Amino acid sequence: MLGHDIRNLANSLVAFLQLVRLGQLDASRPEFGELLGLSESNVTELLRMVNALLDVYKLEEGRLEADQSVVRVLDLAKKSMSQLAAEARARGVAMSCETGDISVFVDETLLVRVLTNLLANSVKHTPSGGTATIEAEPARDGWVKVRVRDTGPGIAAADAPNVFDRFYQTAGGRSRGGSGLGLAFCKLAVELHGGTIRVVNAGQSGANIELTLPAETRA
Ligand SMILES: Nc1ncnc2c1ncn2[C@@H]1O[C@H](COP(=O)(O)OP(=O)(O)OP(=O)(O)O)[C@@H](O)[C@H]1O
Ligand SMILES: [Mg+2]
Repeated sequence: MLGHDIRNLANSLVAFLQLVRLGQLDASRPEFGELLGLSESNVTELLRMVNALLDVYKLEEGRLEADQSVVRVLDLAKKSMSQLAAEARARGVAMSCETGDISVFVDETLLVRVLTNLLANSVKHTPSGGTATIEAEPARDGWVKVRVRDTGPGIAAADAPNVFDRFYQTAGGRSRGGSGLGLAFCKLAVELHGGTIRVVNAGQSGANIELTLPAETRA
C-alpha cells in the first residue's frame, strides 16, 4: 500500500511538471495556484512517508541510538502540541496536558516525535468538539507512565494487538490517510529506551495509549 501511495503522489507531481513544461498550464489562471498548492502538499506527504519508513527501518536495524537526558514530560508534550496546533484547531479538537512536574530520562527528539504521532492519531480520529490529552504519573521501580487519550471512537479489541505492526491500518484509519507507520515507529522508539507501549482500553470508546518510560532517577 505504501509503495502504491508513494507512486501516486510522485506521479501526480510528474504530471503537473509535464503540463508546466509543455506550456499547457497558464500561470495566470486560478487553477495554476491550486495545482501548485496541491503539488506542494503532495511532496510534503511524500517526504513524510519516506522519512517515516526510513526511521522504522533504522530503528529495526538498531542504527538509531537514544541520546538520553532528563526532560520534563510537560516540555515534550508542549513541543508536540505546538506541532499539531494548526491541525487540531482546524478539526475542532482541544489538546490538553496533565503531566504535573514529572521528568523522564529519554531521547528528547525521539520522544517528541512519539508524542506527536500519538497526538496526530488522536486529532485525526476525534470528532470536532472532542479532546486529546497527555497525562503522566510515576510508576514503580524508576519508571513513569505517560498516556495519550482522546474522545474518539477508540481501538477495537481485534485491532489492538496489531496496531503497532508496520503498515497496519484499520478501514477507518486507512480512510483518513497515512501509511500505518506511526505506531510502529512509537513502539520501536519506546523499546529503544527499554520501555513498553500498549492500548489500555481496547474495545472501549476513546483511545488510550500508555507508554512506560525511564524516570529521571535512571539518569
Ligand atoms: N487514537 C486513535 N483512535 C482510533 N484509532 C486509532 C488511533 N490511533 C491509531 N488508531 C488505529 O491504528 C492504526 C495504526 O495507526 P498508525 O499511527 O500506525 O497509522 P496511521 O495513523 O493510519 O498512519 P501514519 O501514522 O503512518 O500516518 C490506524 O490506522 C487506526 O486504525
Ligand atoms: Mg498515525
